[in-house]
Amino acid sequence: MTPFQYLQKTKSKRQKELFDLLKFPSISAKSENKKDIKNCAQWLKEHLKTIGFKSKIYPTKGNPVVYGEYMADKNAPTVLYYGHYDVQPPEPLNLWKSAPFKPEIRGGYIYARGATDDKGQTFAQIKGLEAVIKSDGSLPVNVKFLIEGEEEVASENLPVFIKKNKKMLKADIAVISDTGQFDKNLPAVTYGLRGLAFVEVFVYGPNRDVHSGSFGGAIANPINVLCAMVGKLHDKNGKIAIPGFYKDVKPLSKWERNQFKKLPYNEASYKKTLGVPALSGEKGYTTFERTWSRPTCDVNGITGGYQGEGAKTIIPSMASCKITMRLVPNMDPNDICNKIEKYLLKIAPPSVKVKVVKHGGAPGVVVPTDGPWLDAAARAIKAGFGKNPVFMKEGGSIPIVGDFKKILGVDTLLIGFGQNDDNIHSPNERFRIKDFERGCQTSAALPFELAKIKK
Ligand code: BES
Ligand code: MN
Ligand code: MN
Repeated sequence: MTPFQYLQKTKSKRQKELFDLLKFPSISAKSENKKDIKNCAQWLKEHLKTIGFKSKIYPTKGNPVVYGEYMADKNAPTVLYYGHYDVQPPEPLNLWKSAPFKPEIRGGYIYARGATDDKGQTFAQIKGLEAVIKSDGSLPVNVKFLIEGEEEVASENLPVFIKKNKKMLKADIAVISDTGQFDKNLPAVTYGLRGLAFVEVFVYGPNRDVHSGSFGGAIANPINVLCAMVGKLHDKNGKIAIPGFYKDVKPLSKWERNQFKKLPYNEASYKKTLGVPALSGEKGYTTFERTWSRPTCDVNGITGGYQGEGAKTIIPSMASCKITMRLVPNMDPNDICNKIEKYLLKIAPPSVKVKVVKHGGAPGVVVPTDGPWLDAAARAIKAGFGKNPVFMKEGGSIPIVGDFKKILGVDTLLIGFGQNDDNIHSPNERFRIKDFERGCQTSAALPFELAKIKK
């Protein structure tokens, strides 16, 4: 039996097992789900064991790390697989057609929070390896599996774990399935991700909410002020107005611009799927350039004042917002946090007090496009999808990729199985069953391709 035949034969069992994994509400953002996080990690540890891995749970200051190991041959390359079992909060719940943690199949898709991001994709990696072990009796490479529970909250404790366990995690290459394909009929190898820098801004006015008739006009309104400050983050060409923001940004290479231009793109359907009347962004750049290779600055949430039913006439005592900036390689998240803080404090009027809380972030990353690894990934995708992949980048972030390079010295292959319309982080997240299967096949083919590369 070949690994692909094994996958064919075990299809329905595999889907049932994925359902079990999707049932854990392993939401890392909420403390009430600590127990679910633990149970989910435990389930994964046990599952790795059933397919022949040595596996263990490592507690961290935050959520536990699941580690698995299959040492096949000390002369073969060692591959560090990474995934995350934590998920984003499912809210708003009323927009889900079926409950987020009761997986359901509709129209060829599995619907559940985490279906694509990242339980389904991590499970595809695991099951691809299982298929090889079960049909060949072993693996052509050594495998180390690292599945964490804090990716969606920026992997705060994982770098410490990696530093502590450098020897255990030593590998020749890392592999992550937590990105997407180009579209439904065009698989992709991703060679770059953007990074992230995160700050929160607090604007304080009067020491309590006060009557807007009695005091309005004489004191600053923190919400008005915050909005005016937010309005000064970009100039009229969509460039970010923070002094020095672009200092470390390298211009797009000719090669990259040409590469992106070759990819199919239809602006009308792009607008239509998102329901926007027009696109908006930095002048002089295409949509792919804007989302994959240029930095951004966005408010993710803003709050302050009265938000209940009916009218309430007050000048609020404070307003706040959360801002994230997507970064490109070479930009330093801490440096960017310092720059936005300095700028916001400078443009704040003397009528309010402003505080900026800096949360740091993760750097942007690129995988070398000239080494043998990316070609091996492309061949595995060809085997799994029956079609040659294109090379693309993604605008999202996977914080640990930078640390893999910095701490362990390994590059990462990003081999994603998701689609742009899988609704990750949104209501009705889903994973196309066909993509799950092709992901399993790709994951079964990959070890053979990686084994061809001499250490
Ligand atoms: N799987 C995503 C990253 C991603 C998103 C890759 C879209 C490709 C396309 C990951 O789980 C994620 O959501 N990361 C966060 C990181 C943040 C919380 C530090 C992100 O990008 O917002
Ligand atoms: Mn993810
Ligand atoms: Mn995510």
